[in-house]
Amino acid sequence: MGNAFISLVIVLMTVGLSACSRDPDQAAQASKDPDWERGRAVYIANCVACHNSDPSKDGPIGPALKGSDQELIETRVLTSNYPPNYKPKRPTKVMPQFPFLKSEIPYLAAYLR
Ligand code: HEC
Repeated sequence: MGNAFISLVIVLMTVGLSACSRDPDQAAQASKDPDWERGRAVYIANCVACHNSDPSKDGPIGPALKGSDQELIETRVLTSNYPPNYKPKRPTKVMPQFPFLKSEIPYLAAYLR
């Protein structure tokens, strides 16, 4: 057992690592777009209790959110209102406000776009 064995181990580890980082859509998109990745983390931490972890589907309590623009997200998340002339998906007022997410709104918008 000598250097040849150690080199083999190193080669195998390198191959293994590069195989892991080559993954489906989400990983590729995330590595290209840190805003999307950050928005996803904020969404998972704050929104999936009610909205679906896949924003294109309705959640247990809240409606699907994919395609929401930044103005809608900001108005809804910070004030519980809707932008002028926007027709809400639900007539209810169940969702609370999240004033502490003010600085995260652009990232949520990048994720839900
Ligand atoms: C406690 C449950 C709950 C949580 C947590 C929650 N929502 Fe909601 N959300 C709702 C419900 C229910 C509605 C439907 C309107 C209503 O009743 O308030 C809604 C509506 C919305 C809408 C308007 C959809 C439309 O087009 O009419 C947006 C945008 C939205 N939520 C974004 C978010 C985001 C972003 C988060 C995380 C920061 C979040 N929500 C967290 C329950 C929730």
